[in-house]
This record gives sequence, structure tokens and C-alpha cells, in this order.
Amino acid sequence: MSRIIVIGAGGQIGTELVTALRKIHGNENVVASDLREGCPPLLNDGPYVQLDILNREAVRNYIIENKIAQVYLLAALLSATAEKNPDFAWRLNMEGLFTILDLAKEKHLEKIFWPSSIAVFGPTTPLDNTPQHTIMEPTTVYGISKQAGERWCEYYYNKFNVDVRSIRYPGLISYKSLPGGGTTDYAVDIFYKAKAGEVFTSFLSEDTALPMMFMEDAIRATIELMNAPTEKIKERSAYNLGGISFTPEQIAEAIQKRIPEFKINYLPDFRQAIADSWPNSIDDTAAQRDWGWKHNFDLDAIVNVMLDNVKI
Ligand code: NAD
Ligand code: SER
Repeated sequence: MSRIIVIGAGGQIGTELVTALRKIHGNENVVASDLREGCPPLLNDGPYVQLDILNREAVRNYIIENKIAQVYLLAALLSATAEKNPDFAWRLNMEGLFTILDLAKEKHLEKIFWPSSIAVFGPTTPLDNTPQHTIMEPTTVYGISKQAGERWCEYYYNKFNVDVRSIRYPGLISYKSLPGGGTTDYAVDIFYKAKAGEVFTSFLSEDTALPMMFMEDAIRATIELMNAPTEKIKERSAYNLGGISFTPEQIAEAIQKRIPEFKINYLPDFRQAIADSWPNSIDDTAAQRDWGWKHNFDLDAIVNVMLDNVKI
């Protein structure tokens, strides 16, 4: 049985990914790890270790001494937070990746998952049904770090046969944990206001369409990609992953089907420019063809699950 570590496990994705991996591999075989001192309550059914991904020696020692075979590297600054601290965002998003890629290059690891993002695209990209291979001129520090990370993943695969796999996640919608400072966070925040009976002020304009996905789909995609036979993985940079696409106005209308009195207004801030540079929708036929990807949740299904489960 391979031992697995999820680094950045306390965040929006890690909280659900650790639980899903523990169901498959057994609680003891999946180590949750984060910067935080204490184990987040949702992850205390298995091992937890406090690690700073920027402490290269500590991370190397833990992985080697504990015979970890697979790493899911989630620690990063997301788009909006990264714009406020570009130097640190670049350092965090890149140095951690090299630490893990080098461990695999030295044959200490069998497999790596490292997430990319729709942020790798930019204003010169065709923004509707964005293809897998296209113009990529990201204008955010987050997007630049993800694009550089993709190039390095492919390089380590080509030069050193490192089995690294990646997905360009769209905006992710979840109720078990909160998002961590991205441009798509509004699509989670809106449910808390709707359930509280409050007016929601969107930081994106009413007609800003972005690719989105329910967390359950994203976790399944991650696990399906990691379980796919090596020869099926044709993209060693990162796979486009489509889900659905909607605007703030459309998600508000979907919520109003369940809560007719719900109200939204619009006050775009610096995140509008980020969103405007990202795709409206994504073509994921490469993921469908190579490892059989198909999303399950449409907008109405997401709204129903979120309204049923968000706790205020
Ligand atoms: P998040 O911000 O919710 O979680 C990140 C976690 O990393 C946090 O628990 C944080 O404490 C931890 N962390 C930060 N610095 C660390 C360090 N130095 N050492 C160890 N841990 C550290 O992020 P998320 O939404 O779970 O995203 C995870 C990954 O997926 C990121 O790489 C992100 O870019 C990518 N991604 C996320 C989305 C999304 O919508 N959530 C979309 C595209 C890509
Ligand atoms: N959800 C992420 C963000 O908004 C996309 O990578 O930063």
C-alpha cells in the first residue's frame, strides 16, 4: 500500500480530498499536512503533521523517513491573495513545487498531483470554450506561477520521467470548507448570504461568466486522473477540466428558484479585472478522451446541495 501525503490539507480542496483518499486507501495511509499547528477537526480521523512547504529540509526528511510514495501538493496562494503579495506568492507557489518534483526526480516518490488553474489563460486566449492548447499569456502573478509550474511539470516528466499529473481546476464550489482567497470565491459566499436572508453584494459584475465546478466533481476528477494508467496520460502540463459556466446573475436566479426573496447587487472590485482575463467556459475533450472525464453537477444541482448543506 502506497503512503500518501496531502500538503495544504486544511484548505478548501484538501479538506475533502483527504477524506476521499482515506476512504480508498485507509485512514492510516493518508497523512494530512498543513502550516497550521493543530489538525483541522474534519481531518482528525487519521495522521496529521505540521509542515511548512517552504522548509525544504523538513519536507524532504518527513517524506523520506516516512516512506511516502505519493504527494498531493495543494499549498499555494490563490489569485486574489496573490495579487496583494506577489513576491511571496511566486515564492510559495514555485519553491514548494520544486521541492516535490526533486524528490520524485531522486526516486523518493512514485507519483505527484499538483493543481493548476484556469488562471493560466489570459486576455489574449480565446475565452469561449477555451481549448487545451492555445495562447496563454496570464496577467496575474497567480496565473504566471501556475503556467510556469505547468511547464516545469512537463519538463520533469520529459527529462526525468517524473509521474506528475495536473488539472486546471475551474472555480470550486463547496460547503464543507471555505474558499481561500480566489476570484471565484463569490460563488460560495453567495450561499451564506442567501441562507442568512441577507442581500449579497457581488465583487464581480452581473454578466461575468466563469467556469465553475462542484467540489465532489473536482475530487472525483483528481482521483480518476491519479488512478488512470500512465499510458493514458497524454498531457503532462495540466488538463483542462470543464464543468459548468455561469454569471453572478445566473447563479442568483438559480438561488431565487428556491428563495424567491433573495436579492443581489453588484460592486466590482480589483477581482473584476482578474475575472475578465480568464475564460468564460472550458473545452475539456482531452480529459474526456484520455481518462474518461465527465462532470455530474449542473447549476441547479449545485444550488440545491449548497442550500441544503451550508450552515450559517
Ligand atoms: P486554500 O487556500 O483553501 O488552501 C491552501 C492550504 O495551504 C491552506 O490550508 C493553507 O494553510 C495551506 N498553506 C499555505 N501556505 C502553506 C505552507 N507554506 N506550507 C504548508 N501549507 C500551507 O486553497 P485551495 O482552494 O484548497 O487550493 C488548493 C490548490 O488548488 C492551490 O494550488 C490552488 O491554486 C489550486 N486551485 C484551487 C481552485 C479553487 O477554486 N479552490 C481552483 C484552481 C486551482
Ligand atoms: N478559484 C481560483 C481562484 O479564483 C482559480 O484558480 O483563484
